[in-house]
Amino acid sequence: MKVVEEEQLITVMDGPWSPTGLIREIVDSGTQEDPFYIMDLGEVVARYHRWKELMPRVEPFYAVKCNDDKLLVSTLAALGAGFDCASKVEIELVTSIGVAPERIIFANPAKMASHIRYASAMGVDVMTFDSETELMKIKQFMPHAQLVIRIRCDAAAAQCPLGIKFGCDPLTEAPRLLKLAAVLGLDVVGVSFHVGSGASETAVYGRGISLARALFRTARDAGHVRMQLLDIGGGFPGGRHDDIQEVSEVINAALEEHFPIGSVRVIAEPGRYFAAAAYTLAAMVHAKREIAPIESGGETHTMYFINDGVYGSFNCVLYDHQHVKAETLNDNGTPLSECSVWGPTCDGLDCVLPNVRLPTLAIGDWLVFRDMGAYTLPVASAFNGFPVPTVRPVVDARLASILKELRPLTASQFAATRSGATSGPPSPTAPASPHAEASPLPPPARAVFVECALK
Ligand SMILES: Cc1ncc(COP(=O)(O)O)c(C=O)c1O
Repeated sequence: MKVVEEEQLITVMDGPWSPTGLIREIVDSGTQEDPFYIMDLGEVVARYHRWKELMPRVEPFYAVKCNDDKLLVSTLAALGAGFDCASKVEIELVTSIGVAPERIIFANPAKMASHIRYASAMGVDVMTFDSETELMKIKQFMPHAQLVIRIRCDAAAAQCPLGIKFGCDPLTEAPRLLKLAAVLGLDVVGVSFHVGSGASETAVYGRGISLARALFRTARDAGHVRMQLLDIGGGFPGGRHDDIQEVSEVINAALEEHFPIGSVRVIAEPGRYFAAAAYTLAAMVHAKREIAPIESGGETHTMYFINDGVYGSFNCVLYDHQHVKAETLNDNGTPLSECSVWGPTCDGLDCVLPNVRLPTLAIGDWLVFRDMGAYTLPVASAFNGFPVPTVRPVVDARLASILKELRPLTASQFAATRSGATSGPPSPTAPASPHAEASPLPPPARAVFVECALK
């Protein structure tokens, strides 16, 4: 059972603030017992700006599956992003906030018939395929679709490899599928690939773009005269200390070599990149158990039980292969000692951190987990009756005054401005710099808003 919360007003901060400062303020009120997120809208805006600055030719189509928080989706829509939807419900969400169907790609190569019919009715014409049966289905339910062939091109290593499930072989399968599409009278307009989510190789984008170039020729030879779309998928890093400088250089160079400016429209489907760093999770220790050392002279191991676990936000540990990092909210001066951190449910699998070193925690102490916005909330369940954390969105006043004017955001979503200066002292396990919490990305420039407002 997933308890749907009412939409939170966006807190507008006048002056400096930080997620941990706000978390401290909230928990110090003494009434907070459930886990919650601070969502920093400024981080999303800064990332959008950084993307545009580094890859001006590549239009980001946010992958909704990564985090379908309506406010995140609305903010990206306000900034001018397009969207990668994988299902009827995701298309419903994105179109319900007023995004035009031309700004959506239905990027699931294995679609249900009813979802194809829905896309057709909504005017979402661009969709991916990687098999013969998908072509037959599209021929039956949406013969006017604009098709994008998804090829396999895997990074040497990725947090979540995708090639095992999707993407036809670019050399052996793709030419045959392109011919079949032509015989069926279907319109193929582009090539896509996804290198794997959380890819740790950057050169792979160069390989993908080169493969796509060859297939553009094959497709044209097969009679697909409207080849115009290159979709380089997702896979971009999203942590607050990650940057896309290096990967952008690889992509820009490959585009220049294989797709000179003006020859095609280039899109990407970043998910993690936009979602991860914007969300900071706070979870409370509600129980603990001490295990005596087995050998004399060994260390006592403490088990801490917190109010969010692998059935909630930390499903990302199981499904997304994330390595989460706990920070204590307040410095209590105790030395680090051996411990483990467990979720609140009765399942033995519900372990967040099996072996970690933290200061001694008391019941009622809070832990902070950063970079928690990707592949966490949409998968979380309230198993055992433990609620999925609520999200408290925050933005600084200067940015709020601009965002309020950009639809689908509206002034009514923003609370009255309150004074900031909630940074407080850095926590002991947090980075020591006073600016350590600030995004490593440059602040959003006004230009990006002007550009978006004109869209
Ligand atoms: C088709 C498709 N596009 C985009 C994404 C988003 O990938 P990432 O979050 O790595 O950017 C995914 C993730 O699974 C995907 O399957």
